[in-house]
Amino acid sequence: MEFIDLGAQYCALKEEIDRNIRQVLEETDFIMGKQVAEFEDRLAEYLGIPYAVGCSSGTDALQLIYMAYGIGEGDAVFCPDMTFVASVEPAFMLGAEPVFCDIDSRTYNISTDSLERQIKAVMAQGKRKPKAIVAVDFIGNPADYDALGRIAKQYDLLLIEDAAQGIGASYKGKKCGTFGDIAATSFFPSKPLGCYGDGGAVLTESAEMRDLLRSLRVHGKGSSKYDNIRVGMNARLDTIQAAVMLPKLACLDNEIMRRQEIAARYNEALKDKFEIPFIQEGSVSSYAQYALLAENAGQRDEIRAKLQEKGIPTIVYYPNPMHNMKVFAHCFTGGESFENTISYADRTFSVPFSAYLTSEDQERIIDTLRMM
Ligand SMILES: Cc1ncc(COP(=O)(O)O)c(C=O)c1O
Repeated sequence: MEFIDLGAQYCALKEEIDRNIRQVLEETDFIMGKQVAEFEDRLAEYLGIPYAVGCSSGTDALQLIYMAYGIGEGDAVFCPDMTFVASVEPAFMLGAEPVFCDIDSRTYNISTDSLERQIKAVMAQGKRKPKAIVAVDFIGNPADYDALGRIAKQYDLLLIEDAAQGIGASYKGKKCGTFGDIAATSFFPSKPLGCYGDGGAVLTESAEMRDLLRSLRVHGKGSSKYDNIRVGMNARLDTIQAAVMLPKLACLDNEIMRRQEIAARYNEALKDKFEIPFIQEGSVSSYAQYALLAENAGQRDEIRAKLQEKGIPTIVYYPNPMHNMKVFAHCFTGGESFENTISYADRTFSVPFSAYLTSEDQERIIDTLRMM
């Protein structure tokens, strides 16, 4: 059994994907071909915002955002302690200090209490300027944007949505990828909307920001790529990746519906055995992953071993909280204990999940888990 069956999705969309790839090969417009602009328009339309700027990965989308806002030396960027390193790695590389916040014990998203404590701690220390909050839609579950918006306003902070795992999700009827001042997403193959390599996008409502991002993703270009007016990157979205994603985007909402059905089946069958995902009232998760919590690390490891024996793969997202990473060892921790994040990292495991997971496989997974 595959953890995420990308092959089954390819089989379902094979005709359109093959045709689109062949068209790019025949037209040989590999860099910034027309499919990139078409995909950007369709994605923006899907999200209900004016602009999507395609780029080379989710990490680069975040870097482009940090560069566009001039985030760097002397700035503090607040981020959940449970995320993928790329949420803040580019800000750190640009000289800013990541300040990690504990997660909420139910949603596993950034805890607004911890965030406020950390903002106050940074202000009290007086060494860095609180600059931005990076909210992550962790494993597809939308962050609490009403509360985060209030905090961002109160402390005059930029609110950046890291929607790498959140495309297809929504919060109070609004799609993830549209929250805060600006958002980034990833098209890593296993994401809810994935390509066949690396890809990402920045999502914005501002035409001025769109133009700046378009310049930054092509070496800080001015009127042409040989007229460089600022320091930028080579961070374009490949034409082939855009062509691959056009049919995938067209069926994303159907896949998200299917994900809700499978998650509901898992939830019902497993709720008395494990801690199941908690999705806030008004939120729809993209279920980028379906994660369960065991009682403790020991039980989690036993369960994973048992599933492995039965040929059922599992993955832990993520085993190591950010504050514990060697790369961030010297960063300001503000005296937080990160107890929710540590408990989550010790107990979480994700089971096979995708819109194409067969009913038989779902049953096998449920039956094996229920025997624990
Ligand atoms: C929360 C989060 N942020 C950023 C990224 C980076 O995306 P990419 O792998 O496309 O660079 C990822 C990808 O795993 C992610 O999960």
